[in-house]
Amino acid sequence: MRFLTSLAAFITAVAAAPTQSLDFSAYTSLATRTDPSLTGYLGVFFLGDKPSVYFYTSNGNNAISLKALNKGNPVINPTKGTQGVRDPSIISGGGDEEGKKWYIIGTDLNIGKTTWDASQRTGSRGIFVWESTDLTTWTGERLVNVEDATAGMVWAPDAIWDSEKSQYLVHWASKFYPASDTKHTGTPSAIRIRYAHTTDFKTFTAPQDYINKSPTNIIDLNILPLGSNVYARFMKDETAKTVFTEVSTNGLFGTWTRPAGASATIASGVEGPAAYWDNQVSGKAHLLLDFYGSDGYRPYESTDVKSGKWTASDRANFPKNLRHGSVLPVNATVLSALTAKWP
Ligand SMILES: *[C@@H]1O[C@H](CO)[C@@H](O)[C@H](O)[C@H]1NC(C)=O
Repeated sequence: MRFLTSLAAFITAVAAAPTQSLDFSAYTSLATRTDPSLTGYLGVFFLGDKPSVYFYTSNGNNAISLKALNKGNPVINPTKGTQGVRDPSIISGGGDEEGKKWYIIGTDLNIGKTTWDASQRTGSRGIFVWESTDLTTWTGERLVNVEDATAGMVWAPDAIWDSEKSQYLVHWASKFYPASDTKHTGTPSAIRIRYAHTTDFKTFTAPQDYINKSPTNIIDLNILPLGSNVYARFMKDETAKTVFTEVSTNGLFGTWTRPAGASATIASGVEGPAAYWDNQVSGKAHLLLDFYGSDGYRPYESTDVKSGKWTASDRANFPKNLRHGSVLPVNATVLSALTAKWP
């Protein structure tokens, strides 16, 4: 039904603008449409005190029932930087790479080797990157610096295909010190969301501010496409320790507003929001929220993402202690390849 509504809107839009070139890019991944070929989910996480990448797959096509692959052992162990990766995010290829390439990117942070203060003053300015053409073989580990020496850290990188730019929009959280404070002992800026574009996760455009709510600190941005150039985004207010949502109806660089009210939040004491569409119920989305002081990710759900209203889901089959990661819908071929490789 949602699909038909969108289709009708699309036809109307095309009819109303006959002289404009047709851009189908926003419709190739019409987000709220259910896709019968998608028969499960791949979840990519780090665990409480273990900064490696762990894979989980769904039990059947249940978006909130997951089991560990590889007998619960990591699937990727970083060898560069701090040799610890947090906040892994799995990115689907776009453009020429759609359906052919996937990336996992993450924070270079092994908190067991540092402190929370030091990791934000003189932390890593790189993002970890791995890539795959089949979701089962992950190669090309790299640690790419995306900020200059004034940044205290680069946290929770995530990315989305930007169809208007035909490049990946990569974003992360950083705070900055004055250039004169080379040892970063003084007072930094608020933490803000930065972005750059890339086609290959090797070279990036010069970083710029994406979300600056100074003096409020913002981290952990995640973006969910709603189709037709509409997006919802989720982020943590690192000052109030809450996660909230904003919606744009005019693109990734459009006007973002907080649909449920200027101070509305989804939950508090949470971080690392990770949103994904349900494979079976059209218009239903899931949002994982990391209760970082407790037992990690808990699933939330919404059938009206644009309204900003989310409710807690049944947690009975959702594993405990999964931390900030992401979830990708996959088909039966991918699911069986993953299970065969990491039974
Ligand atoms: C399953 O998904 C993969 C990755 O997107 C794709 O390459 C493959 O063609 C799909 N297979 C089927 C049978 O749809």
